[in-house]
Amino acid sequence: MKVFDIAPVKYLDGKMLVLDQTRLPGEEVYIEMQSKEDVFEAIYKLRVRGAPAIGVAAAYGLYVEMRDFPEEKGLAAFMQALKKAKDYLISARPTAVNLAWALNRMCGVLEAEKPQSVEAAKQRLFIEAESIRSEDEAACYAMGEYGLSLLRPGMGILTHCNAGTIATAKYGTCLAPIYLGAERGFDFHVFADETRPLLQGARLTSWELSKAGIDVTLICDNMAATVMKKGWVDAVVTGCDRMAANGDGANKIGTSGVAILAKEYGIPFYMYVPTSTIDLNTASGEAIEIEERDGEEIYKMWYEKPMAPEGIKTYNPAFDVTEAKYITAVITEKGIVRPPYRENLEKLLK
Ligand code: MRU
Repeated sequence: MKVFDIAPVKYLDGKMLVLDQTRLPGEEVYIEMQSKEDVFEAIYKLRVRGAPAIGVAAAYGLYVEMRDFPEEKGLAAFMQALKKAKDYLISARPTAVNLAWALNRMCGVLEAEKPQSVEAAKQRLFIEAESIRSEDEAACYAMGEYGLSLLRPGMGILTHCNAGTIATAKYGTCLAPIYLGAERGFDFHVFADETRPLLQGARLTSWELSKAGIDVTLICDNMAATVMKKGWVDAVVTGCDRMAANGDGANKIGTSGVAILAKEYGIPFYMYVPTSTIDLNTASGEAIEIEERDGEEIYKMWYEKPMAPEGIKTYNPAFDVTEAKYITAVITEKGIVRPPYRENLEKLLK
């Protein structure tokens, strides 16, 4: 697939490296993770972000935390320390289910297989982290194929936030069909919402797509209605951080507004959701915990001077929930799911 070869998380020559996304688009810098505290900080500060990439980082992070555990302390102590590290990492961000999913999978595999030594347990953790990474890469490629079947050459496509290569192991979720389409001569025109307040669309999506040679136009979030009304948008594609059993999907703040607008203008809204992001234990969007972040991100972080009176009251939820009724189809690595979502998501996961 025509996509520049950049991974948000790598394990190379015994080192876990994370692309520091807070420094994009200006600098492409990898930082080494040496402990669970490093990984927690990188996830919390959004150096690594995007639901699948967070899962991959947490999986390698758990291995990195445990890899120097002394053999002589024994397996029981190893498992205790593992659980503590898992609980700590899960608390880094609450909304993306991939974080808990990946960490539970890492611990679950040891509980099920019961390795006979600390060394064997460490090796098994590393293998599982590698599988989580490579399975996500394959899932993204498959979502690219399914997603492309819904698109036509020359289409205008609007996206919100960044669900591209750097939000996953590789290829992205909702940007994967755009890369695949580019390779096959589809000539898409992409509109990237800037995605306030942390500017994932401006800093990351427009960087990623233009680096891959794809036609991309950056717009402010409040311009989506205008480009839709002008007839420039034929489809909206987004990622997802957690999809509840009824098909409600939490994604970056602003996504639900885009979905509502798309319905008004008769534009299909496609949410890309790997099965690792579907949480059948959460009944509906109302039960999804939404992360709230520091208000300074809204009026100070990107400016030389504060853009509001000092000490202003703020409200800064990082995600919102798009109700299932606004989602035309859910694209997964196992196929395209259409309403009724409660039945069809369950069938898919069986
Ligand atoms: O706060 P972020 O940047 O981690 O939010 C990311 C998103 O909302 C993405 O759309 C989602 O995680 C899907 S990434 C394939």
